[in-house]
Amino acid sequence: MGSKSRISKYIVPIIQKYIDENGIKTYVEPFVGGANVIDKIRCDTRIGVDNNEYLIALYKSLQNGWDIRSVDMNKELYQNVKDNKDCHPKQVVALAGLLATYNAKWFGGYAGTVVTKTGVVRNYYDEAVRNITKQVPLIKDVEFKCDTYSNLNPVNSVVYCDPPYFGTTEYKDKIDYDDYWNWVRKISANNIVLCSEYNAPDDFECVWSIGTTITLNHSDRSNATEKLFIKI
Ligand SMILES: C[S@@+](CC[C@H](N)C(=O)[O-])C[C@H]1O[C@@H](n2cnc3c(N)ncnc32)[C@H](O)[C@@H]1O
Repeated sequence: MGSKSRISKYIVPIIQKYIDENGIKTYVEPFVGGANVIDKIRCDTRIGVDNNEYLIALYKSLQNGWDIRSVDMNKELYQNVKDNKDCHPKQVVALAGLLATYNAKWFGGYAGTVVTKTGVVRNYYDEAVRNITKQVPLIKDVEFKCDTYSNLNPVNSVVYCDPPYFGTTEYKDKIDYDDYWNWVRKISANNIVLCSEYNAPDDFECVWSIGTTITLNHSDRSNATEKLFIKI
């Protein structure tokens, strides 16, 4: 789920400028994912939405002081959680499905300790736990909600959309891109809406871009230009 952690240093100042220069009091992220953008935004009210109920349960538990290290997410537990999601607390399912898995791909295979090509020993799960633990103080007043983006009706807000990119397979669910862009058009009438994507329909303009590497499916990596779009 770290996709935005690499580029947040570029896009956060752009989003922040729209908030500050327009006196915006509410910031909304309909696809909050790893919260790598919302954790750096300053705004009176910050709302983080995702349709992954397990992820939202994890954030709420962490806000309530849950000790993430009370769970020993070994390979056996990972497999058990994967096969019996309903038998475990939702936040534990999120630990297995997102933190203990490669590149935060939903149950994309157990990623414990590995020796990388350069001989470095890495424990991906520990790294993910350390990263999210660092985020906890930065997201303590974020209002997290489990919902699908299309149910949201923000007004007078800055909305930053980072949906699963067209053509990628990293996330739990897919979205219909025609419906998505129509929803962005609708809410752009009374909000400032910024969208991350590689491409957008013609009635959107690119306000920022950077070259990047994307994962097209579980193994293919490819170069692409990551952009930020706004409705003309
Ligand atoms: C690209 S990630 C967001 C990355 C995030 N900006 C970050 O900083 O890590 C996309 C997120 O959208 C969520 N998602 C997918 N379909 C959704 C939907 N219909 N409504 C809301 N969230 C959805 C996924 O669960 C995933 O967490």
